[in-house]
Amino acid sequence: MLKIGSLELPSPFVQAPMAGFSNDAWRRILLKFGGVGLLASEMMHARGSLEMERRRKTLHGRLFGLPSREKNGGEKNSFENPFRAAGIPLSVQIWDNQPEPLAEFAEKLVLEYDIQVIDMNFGCPAPDVVQKARCGSWLLQFPERIAELAEAVVQAVHRASSALGLPAPIPVTAKMRLGLSSESMTYASVAQALESAGVSAVTVHGRTTRQMYSGKADWEKIAEIKSLLHVPVIGNGDIRSAFQANEALRKWGVDGVMIGRAALNEPWLFRDAFALYSGADDSELLKRPAAEFQKRLLLEHFDVLLEQHEETEAVMLMRKFAPCYGVGLPNARQFRVHVTRTRTAAEFRQAIEEYFPRDNPEAS
Ligand SMILES: Cc1cc2nc3c(=O)[nH]c(=O)nc-3n(C[C@H](O)[C@H](O)[C@H](O)COP(=O)(O)O)c2cc1C
Repeated sequence: MLKIGSLELPSPFVQAPMAGFSNDAWRRILLKFGGVGLLASEMMHARGSLEMERRRKTLHGRLFGLPSREKNGGEKNSFENPFRAAGIPLSVQIWDNQPEPLAEFAEKLVLEYDIQVIDMNFGCPAPDVVQKARCGSWLLQFPERIAELAEAVVQAVHRASSALGLPAPIPVTAKMRLGLSSESMTYASVAQALESAGVSAVTVHGRTTRQMYSGKADWEKIAEIKSLLHVPVIGNGDIRSAFQANEALRKWGVDGVMIGRAALNEPWLFRDAFALYSGADDSELLKRPAAEFQKRLLLEHFDVLLEQHEETEAVMLMRKFAPCYGVGLPNARQFRVHVTRTRTAAEFRQAIEEYFPRDNPEAS
C-alpha cells in the first residue's frame, strides 16, 4: 500500500487538489463512498494567506473545515469533523516562490491544524499564478529554486512536528507537471531536486504548462520519473474510470494514482477503484447509478453547503458542481445553462426538480 513518509494510506487512489472544488463539503461527499487514500484541499497562496490573517484578521476561506489541533483551542469550525474517525488523511496544498512565507505558512498549518500531509504546488498552469505571480509550474524551469523552496518547507514542517511531539514528522509532498513546454522538459531534474530536498512523495500530472488541459497526459514520462526516484510517485492525468485507475498502477508501476475531474462526475469512483484493487469482481458495483440516486446525492451535497455557508454562497458553490451531477441526463446541456443561473436555494431546487426524474425511493 502507498506509504508517504511514515503515513500509510488506506488506498492508493488519491483525490486531486482542485481550486473551486476540493472544499470541505466535497470531501464529505467523497468520504461517504470511501476508497480514497488521501483527501486534498484547494491550493493556498502562502503570502496571501498569512497577510489575510495578520492584517484583516480573517482566515483564508480554503481553510474552512480543516480540523484544528486540540491544543490550539479546539475546533475553529463548529462542524463535527468526520475525517479523523474515518481514518482518511488530509493533505493541504500551498504555493509561493519565496522560501520564507512558504515555510512560515507550512509551519503554521501543521501547528494549528490536524492535517497529515503538506503538499507544494509546482503544477498550476493558470496565467495568474504562472505569468503574474511566477509561481506554480513557472518554477519548473528552475529546479534549484524548487529544491530551495522544498527544503525550507521540509525543515519547517519537521520543526513543527517535533514541537508538537509527533512520533514522526508530517510528510511534505510536491505536485509537478513535466515542464513549461515541450522545449523545456525539466521533469527529471525537478523530480530529483524534490527528492534531494526531502519530500516524501511526488505527484506528476503528465502534461506541460503550455498544454494546460489539452492533449493527453504522458504516462510514459510519469513512469520514467518513477524509475528515477526512490520516494513514491503518484501518477495523474486523464484517469476516467476505476478500471483505468487500476490499469495505471499495473502498467506504469506508479505507487499511487490521483484522480481529479472524473471524480466530480462520479464521486463513487474511488470506492469502485479500491474495490477492484481489493479483488472485487462485481460488475454491478461499477454500474452508473440511476439519475434518482444522483439527484439525492446532489441535494445532500447542497444541504451540506447550506449548513456551512450563507444561502447565496452555497448556491454559488453548488452551481459549479451541479452540472457534474447532471452528466448523463437526456437534457444535460440545458440543465447546465439553467442551474448555473440560479441565485436562491428555491430556484436551485426547482431547476433540479425540472430536469431530474422524480425521486423513486427504490432507486440505488
Ligand atoms: C478546476 C480545476 C482546478 C484545479 N486546481 C488545482 C489545485 O488547486 N492544485 C493542483 O495541484 N492542481 C489543480 N488542478 C489540477 C488537478 O489536480 C489535476 O492535476 C488535473 O485535473 C489532471 O487530473 P485529472 O485528469 O484526473 O483531472 C486543478 C484542475 C482543475 C480542472
